[in-house]
Amino acid sequence: MSEPTTSLDVRAIAKVPGGNRIRLSNIAIDLKGSEILRIAGEIRAMVAAGESVCNLTVGDFDPRQFRIPELLEEGTIEALRKGETNYPPSSGLPALREAIQTYYERDLGIAYDLDSIVVTAGSRPGVYGAYRAIVSRGERVIYPVPSWNNNYYTDMVEGVGVPIETTVSDAFLPTRQLLEPYVRGARMIALNSPLNPCGTAFTAEALGSICDMILEENDRRGAAGRPLFLLYDQVYWKLTFGGTEHFNPVTLRPEMARYTVFIDGLSKAFAATGVRVGWVAGPTDVIGAMNNFLGHVGTWAPRAEQVAAASLLRSPDEIVTYGVELCRKVQLRLDALYQAVMDLKASGHPVDAVSPMGAIYLSARFNLEGKRARDGSQIRTVDDVRGWLLREAGLGVVPFGAFGASSGESGWFRLSVGAVSMADIEQAIPRLRRGLDSLG
Ligand SMILES: Cc1ncc(COP(=O)(O)O)c(C=O)c1O
Repeated sequence: MSEPTTSLDVRAIAKVPGGNRIRLSNIAIDLKGSEILRIAGEIRAMVAAGESVCNLTVGDFDPRQFRIPELLEEGTIEALRKGETNYPPSSGLPALREAIQTYYERDLGIAYDLDSIVVTAGSRPGVYGAYRAIVSRGERVIYPVPSWNNNYYTDMVEGVGVPIETTVSDAFLPTRQLLEPYVRGARMIALNSPLNPCGTAFTAEALGSICDMILEENDRRGAAGRPLFLLYDQVYWKLTFGGTEHFNPVTLRPEMARYTVFIDGLSKAFAATGVRVGWVAGPTDVIGAMNNFLGHVGTWAPRAEQVAAASLLRSPDEIVTYGVELCRKVQLRLDALYQAVMDLKASGHPVDAVSPMGAIYLSARFNLEGKRARDGSQIRTVDDVRGWLLREAGLGVVPFGAFGASSGESGWFRLSVGAVSMADIEQAIPRLRRGLDSLG
């Protein structure tokens, strides 16, 4: 037996406060932390203190409520047992890329070659890789707000963000009219449908006219110009309800295949956020460049999960059965919250909501600024409203400001239902009503 060694205690030497420009890169210093994670931390502390919270903040699924498909679960375990533990090819296992190709042909009606598809560790590296492959320092990226994380990705590639404020009258979706004044010289437009954080989705007409605008702009630039690309994030496309249909740019306008980069994955469609399998489909030059970048970063999806994902995507019956049940459960929760907010509105409270169309989110308005809480304190800011909802109704929600929106139409919040049960929602609704009734 070897002698125990005394470890060198370097904790005090390694502990250095952040924010020092001399020590870190400019991007690292300037990148803002996630507002959602800050709010989630506050809720964790309340739950730890034994308080009852209906946590509608996280864009995640609680496995006790939403389990991944059995094929994925069993397939991963089996693949690990079979020794699928070495490096996968950097673009993804051929079996999975072929399965994605088949999935897109079968369910979206779009045929891509294999070199148009790259597998990533969840969808995030795909988003980052697409920004990296397309946007050079100083180039403009147009994105609507509220939207998920485009501001951070733009900062990470040192692009110049052009946030376009949307309104409830357009279901918080950008229109051609809103985008058009900014497209000259822009490098990329980043869109997402169904939309995080609003739970709304493009109509064919609205998306089609944005595609026409992009095609016209690219015609204008000609073959020698740097094209305008469309990043189309459709990670929630399997989650639509109540007659809402998902549309994509390439089906609507096939010429868009030259400019469209699809972001997709298992995380939301199969409640598999921790499984970390995503992919990107798009023009072969962009995919090839992404593959170079991401290969060096090593953002491969784990090999065993890739094996299991391939067999899942090759199983149309399993996908349909799973999707029907997932949508049913998500819609049940969203509808319950929507109905509750609309009932409160009918009782005269200053609240509102947008009828859910897709994803796992409800847009709800709590226009409470200027009200006086039971303890006599005045609710002055959006963050005061958020804090009041948490304390008084035990309702954890995220303001649209966390998704880049300014306070133009203040009081709108994202309510995310993936991590709550129907019982959690049913208990929160009377608490919310009592709280609103008590406001002065
Ligand atoms: C619109 C959108 N795109 C991409 C992602 C990232 O998904 P993943 O967990 O697969 O990285 C999310 C996660 O919340 C999202 O909402």
